[in-house]
Amino acid sequence: MLTLIEGLLSEPARIEPKYFYDGVGSRLFELITLMPEYYPTRTEQSVMAVYRQEIACALGEVATLVDLGAGNCQKARDLFASVRPKQYVAVDISAEFLESALQEMRASFPDIRMQSLAADLTQVIDLPTDLGEGKKVCFYPGSSIGNFDPGQAIELLKRMRQLVGQKGGGTPGGLLIGVDLVKENSVLHAAYNDELGITAAFNRNMLTHINSLLGSDFKLEDWGHDAFFNQALSRIEMHLYARRNVTVHWPSGPGWSAGERFFASGDSIHSENSYKYQTELFAEMLLQAGFSSSQFWTDPNQWFAVFYARG
Ligand SMILES: C[S@@+](CC[C@H](N)C(=O)[O-])C[C@H]1O[C@@H](n2cnc3c(N)ncnc32)[C@H](O)[C@@H]1O
Repeated sequence: MLTLIEGLLSEPARIEPKYFYDGVGSRLFELITLMPEYYPTRTEQSVMAVYRQEIACALGEVATLVDLGAGNCQKARDLFASVRPKQYVAVDISAEFLESALQEMRASFPDIRMQSLAADLTQVIDLPTDLGEGKKVCFYPGSSIGNFDPGQAIELLKRMRQLVGQKGGGTPGGLLIGVDLVKENSVLHAAYNDELGITAAFNRNMLTHINSLLGSDFKLEDWGHDAFFNQALSRIEMHLYARRNVTVHWPSGPGWSAGERFFASGDSIHSENSYKYQTELFAEMLLQAGFSSSQFWTDPNQWFAVFYARG
């Protein structure tokens, strides 16, 4: 993974999608999920509702549910109607937003022990040491796996498998994961270019977040939103493009020197990929990551799949 400065200086420039998520970014993402064009959240929730019992059966008794990139924890909240773990560990990079979501979860589910973990999934994750040996299941909804190139995604899946592995022969755990599927270009395009402009605001807010992290001088008025489906690579690409010639500066900070980057009008910063999979390919990736078997559920349009992979 590139550091922020390396990404800004690379050709073309890029910023990792984890930088979308400051407090405002997390709230904007919640709004995106309400947009009529943004099918992934609604579709994933409908698949999980329709197949609630089958999913609960596949998971069996779960001692610890580890929600990766938990956000507002809504999907775990839905899952708890049929799968009641003893413990819930919610992991997210957006620490304050996560903690406030978890406070509401604690009030709603006083019987489940809950811990929040502010951590970056692209780094090694150290789960709390007091979780015990019962079965662990990782939950990674929202098709966030699509943010990683397939090679990186397999590495991340391997780490998730390690998280749910059992030392000493206990029940192996699993991974419940949401995966967005290939579909018509028009549906994909609309989902990432909602008419109200919430996705555009989410994309541009990344620059405000970067300014707060680096002390840089991005001006939002200089940057526009662009998202399109790259058919050859089967991914939505989100970009910020310069509306005019712009030079962005940043001062020195811990571990980096002061610098600048010139962007000609029309140049872009690549801010997100969202890979769209075929179910066969994703099942194969789970095997490559070391899971022993998997099954999946999908909606009537086959727009979104929820996989359960056994460790
Ligand atoms: C697309 S949202 C999904 C939120 C929620 N799980 C859902 O399905 O609606 C991605 C979530 O992952 C978090 N996230 C993104 N990159 C992350 C990273 N590298 N490490 C930890 N959390 C991350 C974000 O803060 C955000 O809450």
